[in-house]
Amino acid sequence: MDFVHRWIPGTDGQTVLLLHGTGGDEDDLLELGRGVAPDASFLSPRGKVLERGMPRFFRRLAEGVFDLDDLRLRTHELADWIGESARQYQFDVKGLVALGYSNGANIAASLLLMRPEVLGDAILLRAMLPFEAEPSLSEKRVLMANGKQDTIISLASATRLAEVLRGGGAKVEFNISEGGHGLEQRDIDEARRWYGTLR
Ligand code: MLT
Repeated sequence: MDFVHRWIPGTDGQTVLLLHGTGGDEDDLLELGRGVAPDASFLSPRGKVLERGMPRFFRRLAEGVFDLDDLRLRTHELADWIGESARQYQFDVKGLVALGYSNGANIAASLLLMRPEVLGDAILLRAMLPFEAEPSLSEKRVLMANGKQDTIISLASATRLAEVLRGGGAKVEFNISEGGHGLEQRDIDEARRWYGTLR
């Protein structure tokens, strides 16, 4: 049930859930997290699925083709663990902000679609629609950032994710850059500005 993870206490009473991309680990997004939310606490799990030795949060059959049974199972497992972590580390899930990149952004999207009660708001960097859904997301705010040159995440799928989230009542800011799959300084700058508008 447990995830290998880091818990780094902060000073401003906010908590950010860091969800790394394929091949990352619990240390991967700490610098990004500090760039976005310098004084927050960080909860950062390592994905349990290994793809040729690279940690991920759920199995895929091919690039962009997800094993949906595994995704559902892993989404519930992660959601339950977030609930347990909230009790252990004493934070309120209603104020929890997910910050996910690539595979981590996709499981964060899946959490929003299936288990929205374990998150407050979310920053999804290079996410796509993991599956069609009709979520209930009123009062949630989501920042999405995708790149036109991204060869892994299609803009069409990201656009559909934004539509589905908005359809569920979430307030979505969707930024599309000229960039690709990799993160750039502007992603951090935009996420930091957006995060600042939450409080
Ligand atoms: C995924 O598998 O979640 C996406 O293809 C992004 C990636 O991890 O490459």
